[in-house]
Amino acid sequence: MPALQSIFIKAYWALAGVGILWAVAIGSLLIPTVQRNALYAHKISTNFWHNVSNPEEFGFAKGQVQPFWLDTSDGERLFCYHVLPLDVYLEHESELVQAVTTGEVVDELESTVGAKLLKRDAESRVVVNFHGNAGHIAQGYRPSTYRSISGIPHTHLLTCDYRGFGLSSLNNPPHIPTEKGIITDAISLLSYIQTSLHHPPSRTVLLGQSLGTAITAASALYFADPSSTELPTNLTHPIPRPASPSTFASIILVAPFRDLPTLLQTYAIAGLIPILKPLRGYPRISKFLATKILDHWRTLPRLSALIRTTSTTKSRVHIHILHARNDADISFRESEGLYQPLQSVMLGEEGASATEERRSIHGGERVKRGAFAYKKVEDAGGRRVVELEVVRYGGHNEVVGWTQVALAVRRGFERGRRVGVDEE
Ligand SMILES: *[C@@H]1O[C@H](CO)[C@@H](O)[C@H](O)[C@H]1NC(C)=O
Ligand SMILES: *[C@@H]1O[C@H](CO)[C@@H](O)[C@H](O)[C@H]1NC(C)=O
Repeated sequence: MPALQSIFIKAYWALAGVGILWAVAIGSLLIPTVQRNALYAHKISTNFWHNVSNPEEFGFAKGQVQPFWLDTSDGERLFCYHVLPLDVYLEHESELVQAVTTGEVVDELESTVGAKLLKRDAESRVVVNFHGNAGHIAQGYRPSTYRSISGIPHTHLLTCDYRGFGLSSLNNPPHIPTEKGIITDAISLLSYIQTSLHHPPSRTVLLGQSLGTAITAASALYFADPSSTELPTNLTHPIPRPASPSTFASIILVAPFRDLPTLLQTYAIAGLIPILKPLRGYPRISKFLATKILDHWRTLPRLSALIRTTSTTKSRVHIHILHARNDADISFRESEGLYQPLQSVMLGEEGASATEERRSIHGGERVKRGAFAYKKVEDAGGRRVVELEVVRYGGHNEVVGWTQVALAVRRGFERGRRVGVDEE
């Protein structure tokens, strides 16, 4: 018995120790720099043993990926990739392999062979990928996403490391990534594609994953309505405003969340370490901590604003939410919680309609889509659509490089082509 008792005592102290560590960790998050370091995790990367300037290291063909620097409107330099589709690569292989910019990180993407091929092809399409927090442009499963997209004909992919991530600079105060800073990065890239590469939004798909979905939602809203009150204040000041409201062929959000304070109530790092979940029985402490969150990343209000503004301007919009059912970091319930209010906003319009289908876990039913659960709402003309697709597998990170996302991208361009005919 004494032995058993001492085991209990040890177990008690071990648990208490974990609790104290957790409390200290949560307490330290009240310090803004610590909080933003924890949220963006931009310093955690494999840059030490990987060379992101050499895309061949990540499985790409020589000259298929052109690394370049992008200047933001507020003086940051972002490290970016232009990934060429395989059909374009195959056709111009020797030209690309021998180009003087191959193996270099260029200052001016416009002058490269790849950018010229993008501009020359009247059918070319662009996917702009916004990666999640932590790591660099080629971290983990990210290259598999680029490879998956590069298999789609005529489809170029552009992506950047946000300020402070990877090789990107961090010149502006407070010298740490912030919501406003990262949104500025995203808008700078999208403006560059429109104004310098002369590529239209109607042939551009935005693809975000995890934190990248919040960046995508904010950027999409900016291009539809730069003065929206849902955007950070003074964001518009240094950035060239879009000439007219523009909407992208599709906005694809993989593993999104409604907003950060809500997410943190259930979020667990790598599916293991809960952030605020242990405080569920203590609403006052929870509420207090929630008031200390600096960057809110309010995707739901931003998407609602996007839907309302496109109703006013009568422009098309396509939002595609996709989430793996076995995502251990962010539950697929977040996507359901994001979709449902958007559906309500849409259904408030005359003539709008919604459909849905669902497989059981064993799946024997006859369904039209490969998704596990599928919901869709569209306006009377079918020009404004929101879709939710819950897929069975793919976890939090790997899913972006998998087939369902590549299909979503293709569907997005197809829709854009069909619906956009009358506009171009
Ligand atoms: C990284 O790759 C680039 C391009 O191949 C090369 O110029 C550079 O020297 C490499 N850096 C290191 C540290 O190996
Ligand atoms: C926004 O910019 C204006 C003029 O530059 C300035 O007066 C104001 O304080 C700024 N607001 C915020 C919230 O930074």
